[in-house]
Amino acid sequence: MKHLTQKHLTGIDSLSIEDIETILDLAETYTDKISIPSYSCEILKGRRILSLFFEDSTRTRVSFEMAAKNLGADWINIDLDRSSLTKGESLPDTLHTLEAIVRPDALVVRHHEYGAPQFIARHVNCPVINAGDSWREHPTQALLDALAIRRHKGTIKNLNIAICGDISHSRVAASNILLLSRLGANLRIIAPPALMPAKFPVENIAQFTTMEEGLKNCDIIMTLRLQKERMEQSAIPSEQAYFNEYGLTRERLSFAKPDSLIMHPGPLNRNVEIADDIADDPDRSLILKQVSYGVPVRMAVMDLLLRNQGQ
Ligand code: CP
Repeated sequence: MKHLTQKHLTGIDSLSIEDIETILDLAETYTDKISIPSYSCEILKGRRILSLFFEDSTRTRVSFEMAAKNLGADWINIDLDRSSLTKGESLPDTLHTLEAIVRPDALVVRHHEYGAPQFIARHVNCPVINAGDSWREHPTQALLDALAIRRHKGTIKNLNIAICGDISHSRVAASNILLLSRLGANLRIIAPPALMPAKFPVENIAQFTTMEEGLKNCDIIMTLRLQKERMEQSAIPSEQAYFNEYGLTRERLSFAKPDSLIMHPGPLNRNVEIADDIADDPDRSLILKQVSYGVPVRMAVMDLLLRNQGQ
């Protein structure tokens, strides 16, 4: 049984290339196993995984819960809106209290503040898994995206992959840029100037400000949600104006390879980032398959971090 070199999963930046391959290989195995309806296992039986979501989520929270239950672990949801944090209790005091009561084997954390998972990891004794923090990182999203590409294109190396839209505010883009470049993809970033970061975490990223230029010859087109909650109002003139220039339409898709596939981490703003008919095209859109890979990827991460921990 392989292990990760890290106690926590706080970001792609802290994983070695061997860690990444180990997670993806185990996730492949779990993808096949959970396709059998009667599949169940008890690898993490008796382990307690505490869910701390300080920000809303559908896909990530539910797929972590499914993954924990598929491995036989107990999943414990804390309703933070009804916790004593609302009475002014500090986060470290809340964490120490939860540790004393629950004695968790891992925490799954989503937080709106930059670096919150690392902060929490310094205050608890168990592994912390980042389920998305601010615009910094969403490592399990990038890993499930990589698994989707590997399974549907056979490889990631040398593929032309475009990441399009609100790059500045996207933790999905940040983690994918780190991950896909390390796995050998030729990355292209397409964004309006107001949503293009001044700096990237890796060198020599090809940047485009028009979809038509950036999509040429692409194998994978990853569109992103406009993160209006993190955006200055003036960043885009209107949703319609954004769609007119940056929405993925059938016409724009024709600039990419004829067998190119479309991805989106969700939630979708239909007819803002992506036209309805493209999002729902069964031959080109990976969106629902992509989200389904969240379960095996999160099973692999929890298995690798927890299986031999404390034994
Ligand atoms: N992709 C993603 O993180 O979606 P949720 O916010 O629904 O978890």
